[in-house]
Amino acid sequence: MKKNLLSGIKSTGRPHIGNYFGAMKQYLDLQDKYKSYIFIADLHSLTTVQNKEELEKLTLDLAIDYLAIGLDPKKVVLFKQSDIPQVTELTWIFNCITTVPYIMRAHAFKDAEAKNKEINVGVFDYPVLMAADILLPKADIVPVGSDQKQHVEIARDIALKFNRTFGETFSIPKEFIKDDVSTVPGIDGQKMSKSYKNTIPLFATDEEIKKLVMSIPTDSKGVDEPKDPKSNNIFNIHALLLEGEELKKLESKYKNGGMGYKEAKDLLIDDLKKFISPLRERREAIARNPKKVIAMLKKNGKKMFKESEKTMKDIRNKVGLNLY
Ligand code: ADP
Ligand code: TRP
Repeated sequence: MKKNLLSGIKSTGRPHIGNYFGAMKQYLDLQDKYKSYIFIADLHSLTTVQNKEELEKLTLDLAIDYLAIGLDPKKVVLFKQSDIPQVTELTWIFNCITTVPYIMRAHAFKDAEAKNKEINVGVFDYPVLMAADILLPKADIVPVGSDQKQHVEIARDIALKFNRTFGETFSIPKEFIKDDVSTVPGIDGQKMSKSYKNTIPLFATDEEIKKLVMSIPTDSKGVDEPKDPKSNNIFNIHALLLEGEELKKLESKYKNGGMGYKEAKDLLIDDLKKFISPLRERREAIARNPKKVIAMLKKNGKKMFKESEKTMKDIRNKVGLNLY
């Protein structure tokens, strides 16, 4: 029997190459090995996107993105989180066995608090909703970038607490994080993130690619000077696209001197274009038929609803909500 894989992305903006190399590529590489569930976390998006048309568009766009990277709908169940209301029901049950000080230690909440942001209850409860996403379909592995590691740990703790309190119910999930791409840098060198506006979109146009790469800040080293590839952001982004000999060759070009930042950027632009343009073309083809994408989401939503209802019945029974 194949083990279960589950992961999701919020529909809050265009996915970027950090999302791709940090998480989405792992969904692709593992789709044969695991029974895979990949979803659009539109309930999580609601913590920040509060406009009907915008959220609907972002949600459909992300479904198209998933198909465009090559997720095979015959192998992977692609669905929309909000089609499974059992997830919010389970979140409530989890809320009641999780303490406030425990959730206050979550990084995302602490960061928001440090920035003096006005934090809604949804942001605070975000990791508990995520635990329900992971535990309801009994996920064994959860491929994510390193920023989500703590959230998977919280899901694990909640599973253990539930099992101890109400009896063995949930599998104990484990994050799947690929070390070399666990935090992809953005064009400013910080973690690439939709919220930092430092992304290279996964389906960027050639013009966008050029403009973004040209805006990567550089130091004042001249053409002839040797450059340390590991601490160079142009190189670190470029390294995502190359392996083996090609990567070594590029590394030597930096180390040996003789290559200026203009040339380094031009090489990166070429390789990004080569990588992105087939993805973008596939995306354009899929986007021509949104009805087909919606039909798939609806069908899978129904299937997940049914499966979730089975598990939820057992959970309701175990916690004492099933008097008759
Ligand atoms: P963002 O921070 O851009 O809003 P999301 O929170 O939607 O991204 O992340 C979706 C998935 O992509 C998660 O699994 C997350 O860990 C991963 N991810 C996001 N940014 C990066 C990055 N810079 N490097 C590696 N993985 C990332
Ligand atoms: N919090 C994740 C992110 O920001 C998205 C997410 C929601 C998720 N539920 C999940 C990821 C369950 C993995 C499993 O990217």
